[in-house]
Amino acid sequence: MSTSFYETDAALAQYLLFHYGTPEQICPLLPEARGACGFPVRCVTEPLARLTLPPAARALDLGCAVGRSSFELARTFGEVMALDFSARFITAAQTMQREGAMTIRAPREGIALDEFRLTLPGDVPRERVQFRQGDACALPPNLGLFDLVLLANLIDRVPDPARCLAQLPALVAPGGWLVITSPYTWLEEYTPRGKWLDQGQGTLTSLRAHLAPGFRLAETFDLPMVIRDHHRKAQWTVTEASLWRRG
Ligand SMILES: C[S@@+](CC[C@H](N)C(=O)[O-])C[C@H]1O[C@@H](n2cnc3c(N)ncnc32)[C@H](O)[C@@H]1O
Repeated sequence: MSTSFYETDAALAQYLLFHYGTPEQICPLLPEARGACGFPVRCVTEPLARLTLPPAARALDLGCAVGRSSFELARTFGEVMALDFSARFITAAQTMQREGAMTIRAPREGIALDEFRLTLPGDVPRERVQFRQGDACALPPNLGLFDLVLLANLIDRVPDPARCLAQLPALVAPGGWLVITSPYTWLEEYTPRGKWLDQGQGTLTSLRAHLAPGFRLAETFDLPMVIRDHHRKAQWTVTEASLWRRG
């Protein structure tokens, strides 16, 4: 399994800042990029603004990392299950759930670090989220049905994307929604080349083929994001969000 990066100190600090940091903490010298901050919130709010859902619905956040999207889902869904392969990410998400705040040290320059106090908004019903460590390509049985499943920037980070997608028809309730975001950054360090969804046809075309006939593509739109590397450098990326309706 090629997820060892997501167990490192560097990844933990980077993702906690990505999920819970302010635009000023993430992009201190890049005001132009600040509109792309808050991706873990926007990858929930922007799709939800386009969908109709039953009351007290259930959601599943696959590849939840340190949990900000899962908490955002809890504002709308009565029950949120959140799963990630990284045990350290899940422990951090549970700490945020318990304490509502964490202090991190993020790279500033060379060996110098910036210390940040990160907080979860006090009005998030955080008790609705259940975090668990697990493999999105081999999900535990009996998870039940969900009204929305979110795969935020997961599909190009798993070793077997087709296997991950094949489980989804059994997880999404009829009429429910699948939300996929991804920059489609295929890398052999995470996914063997032969298993990349894009073999020349484009990832969205491949997603459509893998998800048919159970899901119909309703809409796509661009969703930018920015992750801080250090004080003077950040990764500014545009993901594609696709909304799929379960037939
Ligand atoms: C690019 S990050 C995206 C995380 C989060 N959804 C976000 O948007 O910030 C990819 C995440 O997928 C997780 N991951 C990778 N392989 C996985 C697998 N097989 N099962 C579950 N999670 C996995 C990683 O631990 C990491 O948290």
